[in-house]
Amino acid sequence: MYILSFESSCDETSVAVTKDGKYVLSNEVLSQIDIFKEYGGVVPEISSREHVKGITYAYLSALKNANLTMDDIDYVAVTEGPGLIGSLLTGINAAKIVALNYNKPLVGVNHLSGHIYAAMIEHDVLFPCLALVISGGHTELVVMKNHYDFNRIGSTKDDAVGEVFDKVARIIGIPYPGGPLLDKIGKEGEPLYNLPRPVLHSNDYSFSFSGLKSATLNLVENLEKTNTKYEIKDIARSFEEAVVEVLLEKTKKAVKEFGIKEVVVVGGSAANSVIRKTLTEGIKDAIITFPAMKYCGDNAAMIGISAYYKIKKGEIDDISLSPKSRLDL
Ligand code: KG4
Ligand code: ZN
Repeated sequence: MYILSFESSCDETSVAVTKDGKYVLSNEVLSQIDIFKEYGGVVPEISSREHVKGITYAYLSALKNANLTMDDIDYVAVTEGPGLIGSLLTGINAAKIVALNYNKPLVGVNHLSGHIYAAMIEHDVLFPCLALVISGGHTELVVMKNHYDFNRIGSTKDDAVGEVFDKVARIIGIPYPGGPLLDKIGKEGEPLYNLPRPVLHSNDYSFSFSGLKSATLNLVENLEKTNTKYEIKDIARSFEEAVVEVLLEKTKKAVKEFGIKEVVVVGGSAANSVIRKTLTEGIKDAIITFPAMKYCGDNAAMIGISAYYKIKKGEIDDISLSPKSRLDL
């Protein structure tokens, strides 16, 4: 089964061709990061317009790189939400035009399920599986007893992991894109500062990161006020240690309670080196899998892989598909 998939929920315009829910034949990703450097973050209106500019090129290039034509494609898939409405709309409209023009069935995919299925590219997962989704907009723990069967057991009460990386980066003067640069700088640093680990010992699977963000801000302000010498690499590293300890503890707790055989850690922040190392070393009772680095951030390949399992469940959409800024798994 060949699926042509579109992703445009935030600041990447991406089109891919995937095969049998496992193999990526092509995955064109046009990032808007360079455009948003001067703004220090994503500007939704500009993002929508950039998607319009790039989507036709991405579509033609994805087909060409896969060495296929629309005759070979069985389904057209697209991210339906959650995400920025204007950005989602461009991907959805493009997918509808292609589906109508070539008479192919249309499948809407939840962006978070896409991130989860990034871990299943060329990989057969074991069930029950636990997905730790850590992206710019979401932080969720999801138990899957089978394919396309999502049971969310916890999420963040405030900031998402990627979001708090971006905000703390700004506090310590690291330019946009904060997350990846903070990761790079933190590698050279030491965890010298003891920052809070919010909800570390709560009985549930909820997360909270806004207190950690405020504590980091207070720390920097105090160091400045008292003219104490500090290096941002040490603050970056201390912050990362606090985030990862909470992620590890909650993941370990869920592995035990739900008899998890495999943990998949996905989403933009799954690219983080401290998170990858600490979770790999700390999870002993289950296999731990991260997507390849190129599939951690937003991409259309993960949407195609996820669509395959939605189709297998018999769930197909139609031309009435509309973008949703909020959409639960
Ligand atoms: O999944 P994603 O590409 O978009 C959303 O669905 O939100 O995630 C983007 C987020 C950003 O907040 C970015 O700072 C974060 O992922 N991120 C990282 C790293 N690379 C990207 N966070 C920590 N360490 C990284 N290396
Ligand atoms: Zn994403």
